[in-house]
Amino acid sequence: MEFTVDTRALPKVEAEALVTYAFEQEKPVEGILARLDEAVGGALTKLAASGELTGKMLDTTLMYYPQGLAAQRLLIVGAGKKDKFGTAELRRLAATAVRALKTRQVKSVAFLARESDRTAASAQAIVEGMILANFDSDKYKTDKKPGNEIKTAALAGWEESSRADADQGLARGRVIAESQNFARELGNEPSNRLTPRMLADRAAAMAREAGLAVEVLDEKKIADLKMGALLSVAQGSVEPPRMIIITYTPEKVNTGAPVLGLVGKAITFDTGGISIKPANDMEKMKYDMCGGAAMIGAMRAIAALKPSCKVIAVIPSSENMPGGRAQKPGDVQISMAGKSIEVINTDAEGRLVLADGIAYAKQLGCTHLVDAATLTGAVVVALANVNVGVFGSDQAFTDQLLASAKVAGEKMWPLPIDDEYREMIKSGIADIQNVGSGKGGGAITAAMFIKEFTGDTPWIHLDIAGTAWQDDVKPWNAKGATGVGVRTLVDLAMKFGSNGSNAK
Ligand code: BES
Ligand code: ZN
Ligand code: ZN
Repeated sequence: MEFTVDTRALPKVEAEALVTYAFEQEKPVEGILARLDEAVGGALTKLAASGELTGKMLDTTLMYYPQGLAAQRLLIVGAGKKDKFGTAELRRLAATAVRALKTRQVKSVAFLARESDRTAASAQAIVEGMILANFDSDKYKTDKKPGNEIKTAALAGWEESSRADADQGLARGRVIAESQNFARELGNEPSNRLTPRMLADRAAAMAREAGLAVEVLDEKKIADLKMGALLSVAQGSVEPPRMIIITYTPEKVNTGAPVLGLVGKAITFDTGGISIKPANDMEKMKYDMCGGAAMIGAMRAIAALKPSCKVIAVIPSSENMPGGRAQKPGDVQISMAGKSIEVINTDAEGRLVLADGIAYAKQLGCTHLVDAATLTGAVVVALANVNVGVFGSDQAFTDQLLASAKVAGEKMWPLPIDDEYREMIKSGIADIQNVGSGKGGGAITAAMFIKEFTGDTPWIHLDIAGTAWQDDVKPWNAKGATGVGVRTLVDLAMKFGSNGSNAK
């Protein structure tokens, strides 16, 4: 999608569709909405009076060939209650407009921002919404309609004086949303088309293009480094594992400055291993690499936006398969950190590969860690597909991430990791076991397991099992991989270290 900033007067804005938004029970009597109403001969006032234009969140009203406008269509999207409106709503309604229009073969749109939304943050949200909405997972359809997408989009309504804000928001929004779409593309790939080796190739190609350093550890190097937990998951598969390391280094690095580590689970297919999963829904386990994909996507945006801190992504990748060489329940493995692990259930493999990913990230010098993983069915029980489960060992760092999630419009909710839960992962014969004993708290005991490997390093765990995949199409979004986490992590990286608050 190509973007421009259009500062011309409303009636002159040319596009196949002009889009704007109205609040609940709003009468078009003020500002730009009044001018629009005037241009179309009072049609908006009439539609509002007749009850057709409600302003209810995401309700759409479409007018064809509106008199007085150069645009061929006028689409008004409901913005909901004015006091509940923010950039998250703006992003979503811009997205809804794109999806409503692209199915009608519209190729060019102009999005008219209301007066209070002529800020860089709003421009960013609008652009993000539009790019995310323009994405569809039809890569393997042979009968896809050619070009069923919006080609050009103008940000309309901006004054010359606010043009710089529009440009800045546009640049940021574009790279972030395109990076999120890259993560979604990876998440949607079937496991026969995205093995750990292929994921490493895709990540390396992205890194080279973006100007990032990349290193891929093969199975031999992984064995040399004694990453026994990752190897134990991989041993049941003919596909070898990979450890993918992508590094962003700012131009000026101060000694002792904090280094942000992003560790992402990338199981390209999770059968459960010998503790095999039921057939129902198993096909979805191709998305068990979405934590890794989120980190790869975030690094792509970080390369372009250049935060002031160093960021290292560490992505352990493997298949989890049953087979003659597969690990078995009860096996004991020695992780890179030297901790012994009793593998009670081979389906709790994500925490195993993360254990070695975290140990390696620490060895590489990360002072702060965030991991993202489609880790547990239990987090889906707790938070459904609405919120990411957030676990943190350092309150200030966790608060920073939650603030970034708010800005980015990604819903996240903190869950507890009290010491009492540590009891539940005590093993009879090893240092730790990979599932909780007793009942309940499955997302927490999984987090507790990972925490064991973080030591004193401030750490946040994002359980994205419920939010990384969307089963049904939404008015604002295609179904499939969501790319959740990318926007939050990029916002966190941009702020991290820049104010000195993370200096240790
Ligand atoms: N990849 C799954 C978690 C998952 C479940 C992701 C549903 C997406 C949707 C993970 O590896 C897993 O199988 N976890 C087990 C852990 C259990 C054996 C302790 C689970 O949640 O059932
Ligand atoms: Zn599993
Ligand atoms: Zn898994």
